[in-house]
Amino acid sequence: IPVAAVIPAAGRGVRLGPGAPKALRALNGTPMLIHAVRALAASRHVSLVVVVAPPDGTAEVKSLLDAHALPERTDFLVVPGGDSRQESVRFGLDALPPEYGIVLVHDAARPLVPVDTVDAVIEAVREGAPAVVPALPLADTVKEVEPAAGPGEPEPVVATPERARLRAVQTPQGFDRETLVRAHATVTEDVTDDASMVEQLGLGVVTVPGHEEAFKVTRPLDLVLAEAVLARRRL
Ligand code: CTP
Ligand code: MG
Repeated sequence: IPVAAVIPAAGRGVRLGPGAPKALRALNGTPMLIHAVRALAASRHVSLVVVVAPPDGTAEVKSLLDAHALPERTDFLVVPGGDSRQESVRFGLDALPPEYGIVLVHDAARPLVPVDTVDAVIEAVREGAPAVVPALPLADTVKEVEPAAGPGEPEPVVATPERARLRAVQTPQGFDRETLVRAHATVTEDVTDDASMVEQLGLGVVTVPGHEEAFKVTRPLDLVLAEAVLARRRL
């Protein structure tokens, strides 16, 4: 079954601070998006990568893809994104040719995911899971809080879920294409990951081991870490 990857890259990167859209910011001189595209195209199983670009940046993304060396065996498409990540993913799904039966959804903001993680996700979907997420145990204890009553007010703690049963999930998340399309057509509320939409359909989502280097570049310190990881890889 042919595998396509959709890379939502249309966010502004508000938490990273002022500047270009996050996916177009450089890591060691190369745009984050190009690192992410290479990471997914590094899998021999991925034959199409759909980049969901900032709505005003499709031409720029197309020329970036042309300007950087990418595997010959992979096809690339660029489509404009939407107002939310969810909408951007849906626009990417809408652009998929019919032959792709397995879809990966991968944040451009996770530029350093190792190819072994990508392949593990694909393998689990091929073995029959409708949805697969890379997951890691948490280092921090997590508290559930009541939202603050107002600015400067405290956030009362409501509960402390048992840390050993919690996982931080990453991307690429892998799906049976029909399942993901149905999830996007059915779930209307805002979600922060695609697999949760499949959970809402009542279907099983399974985990595979995630990887530390698949962390999401979200805040300025993450840029420092990402560039250090790249420098270490060159050794
Ligand atoms: N994304 C997208 N379209 C949107 C919002 C987000 O394609 N309307 C993408 C981002 O480009 C990113 C991924 O979804 O690759 C994960 O989102 P996040 O890390 O939250 O990125 P941003 O939304 O850009 O960052 P922030 O929330 O800090 O503004
Ligand atoms: Mg965001």
